[in-house]
Amino acid sequence: MAEPFPTGYLNGEYLPLATARISPFDRGFLFADGVYEVVPVHRGRPFLLREHLDRLARSLAAIRLANPHTHEQWARIVAELASRAGAPEQLVYVQVTRGAESGRNHPFPSDAAPTVFGFTGPYPAPSPELLAQGIVAVTREDIRWARCDIKSIALLANVLLRQEAGDAGGSEAILLREGWLTEGSSSTVFVVKGDRLMTPPNDPRILPGTTREAVLELARAVAQEIRPVPAQELATADEVWIASAGRGVLPVTRLDGRAVGSGRPGPHWQRTYAELQAHLDAIASRPAL
Ligand code: PDD
Repeated sequence: MAEPFPTGYLNGEYLPLATARISPFDRGFLFADGVYEVVPVHRGRPFLLREHLDRLARSLAAIRLANPHTHEQWARIVAELASRAGAPEQLVYVQVTRGAESGRNHPFPSDAAPTVFGFTGPYPAPSPELLAQGIVAVTREDIRWARCDIKSIALLANVLLRQEAGDAGGSEAILLREGWLTEGSSSTVFVVKGDRLMTPPNDPRILPGTTREAVLELARAVAQEIRPVPAQELATADEVWIASAGRGVLPVTRLDGRAVGSGRPGPHWQRTYAELQAHLDAIASRPAL
């Protein structure tokens, strides 16, 4: 996420991020014992807020951490951060960790209060050049753990894989587990062949993407196959897309040094991208929750 706006949220308080203080014994810091969400704000409105808050609730339940807030309370925090920043396009980040005790102990502490942190930064809208050219990606073996459906702050494997993509001149690593597509290092992945749109089913190997659901809904004119996608289909696709809160839906036009399809953003992506923009315009004045 880009440089944050100055005001953040920490444990009930809105404060300058420069003054925010967290214990070095916070279990987020010592164990990556926490979960997070990234909520995009488009046209001044948090997009897919309920879906993000539902997933946050599921992630918290999966790591056995009580949800510190109701959806309405979370919605107020997101709205307040967004309104203090003021920009129409933002990415709001919220994270909950299992808090701090004194010292380092693997089992859950009996009395630590969770640490709730939030901040927001500008949404890095893709440039017209990027939309015209698409992005470069590489494939890598998915070396992550077996509960990728939890939006855990333990992102070391994702970070290493994303860095490898960058080192190879790309901006996403598309992950394969034993020859089957899972997702990107921070995105879900779609494959188009002819008039069919394919993406793997939600299971513990991938994060159930909020943007993925929106894309499936917007692209319903195309035949959709939610099923395991072998590496071969990825390598011979006409179009490959990545989707995430942070990047919307973007076409991958070079994969592992070869052109994807024509090497230009494909017609199915173009239609879906346009549908998404029109949808964001259409819902701009609806309540966020
Ligand atoms: N990442 N898969 C992974 C591993 C992700 O980290 C993300 C999002 C997604 C897409 O999910 P959604 O469409 O709900 O954003 C899939 C966020 C944006 C991040 O970590 O920055």
